[in-house]
Amino acid sequence: MTKPKVVLGVSGGIAAYKACELLRRLTESGHDVRVVPTDSALHFVGAATWSALSGNPVSTEVWETVHEVPHVRIGQGADLVVVAPATADMLAKAAHGLADDLLTNTLLTARCPVVFAPAMHTEMWEHPATQENVATLRRRGAVVIEPAVGRLTGVDTGKGRLPEPGEIFEVCRRILARGVTTPDLAGRHVVVSAGGTREPLDPVRYLGNRSSGKQGYALAGAAAARGARVTLVEANTGMPDPAGVDVVHVGTAVQLREAVLKAAADADAVVMAAAVADFRPAVYATGKIKKTDDGGAPTVELVRNPDVLAELSADRALPGQVVVGFAAETDDVLVNGRAKLARKGCDLLVVNEVGEHKTFGSAENEAVVLAADGTETPVPYGPKEALAETVWDLVLPRLRERSA
Ligand code: CTP
Repeated sequence: MTKPKVVLGVSGGIAAYKACELLRRLTESGHDVRVVPTDSALHFVGAATWSALSGNPVSTEVWETVHEVPHVRIGQGADLVVVAPATADMLAKAAHGLADDLLTNTLLTARCPVVFAPAMHTEMWEHPATQENVATLRRRGAVVIEPAVGRLTGVDTGKGRLPEPGEIFEVCRRILARGVTTPDLAGRHVVVSAGGTREPLDPVRYLGNRSSGKQGYALAGAAAARGARVTLVEANTGMPDPAGVDVVHVGTAVQLREAVLKAAADADAVVMAAAVADFRPAVYATGKIKKTDDGGAPTVELVRNPDVLAELSADRALPGQVVVGFAAETDDVLVNGRAKLARKGCDLLVVNEVGEHKTFGSAENEAVVLAADGTETPVPYGPKEALAETVWDLVLPRLRERSA
């Protein structure tokens, strides 16, 4: 079997050193990687490093090995092009179709998926010129990963950091695994909620649930790899923020509702994978609830939390918005699932069976996706990533139908 061919474009930013780690991950996982740095990138990491790590020749411009027509061949032969780091200058050149070195030529000749992992100072990222270039690239089908927030070069911090190499690798791996040439969620904004809410009783105790958040993270990662702008509303997962995703951290059901409704205002699809507590303590004790000498125990009164999924479904922020719910059932899984789909009013309901040793915290899942039009899609036992892809596969035709 021939190895998938990946072009790793490197433009001139200090984060170029992190691309060495991305290169190692790509080669070690069986990809044939051709590194195409820009001239500026070589100020940060030299050609010898790229050549030694990739096992392939490295050049920056179109005048070497001219007989092999590298400015056309490298792009044409690629299964994936990933540019990491992508500077503001590189995004501008790519958006405008400039071709003044080997990398920009490669970007014009590539017909495979193209991923940009931007890295720059916050001001440069937020500048309308850069934002318009990013929007142009996304509209044309490129995957532009949202930069991470954190320490930048020097003492400043903010949005603009290159996501961790492992996360960029994960986006590339998913795209190559799907074998698609066009990211089919490009230009879409999707919202995913993940994790489990915690409803505080007092400063040290809460009512919670056992949701790990893995399914929601798989959904967010899959959507990002398919080109969507993703907002992940995360509740108590303890997991690191995934690459290419805007993450909003929440604690309680009420906070989750607020964050989801805000993000849903311009969303094409909302997937409620979070386990939202149906009840919360009626009273929050500002001091720790203490034991009493009479041996008695306090009674905790509960009140209902808002049902976010039902609210989203009944009151769609946009006419064509697709709303997806999850149902974790312990008994009569399908019967309860169908009733829940009707009750909540969503378009799709992913129903899975949960129990003491099933689903919670595990990397696998088995489910049936029920649709409001009566169709049922069974998803066999397998990784949560596979279920995530199926959910987006089912969301897509519904998006197209409505926006047609
Ligand atoms: N959900 C929600 N708001 C709530 C409770 C649940 O948005 N207050 C969403 C979940 O994110 C999930 C779906 O509703 O997508 C199903 O949640 P589940 O708790 O299984 O359904 P319930 O309606 O609470 O039914 P049950 O009586 O079985 O608990």
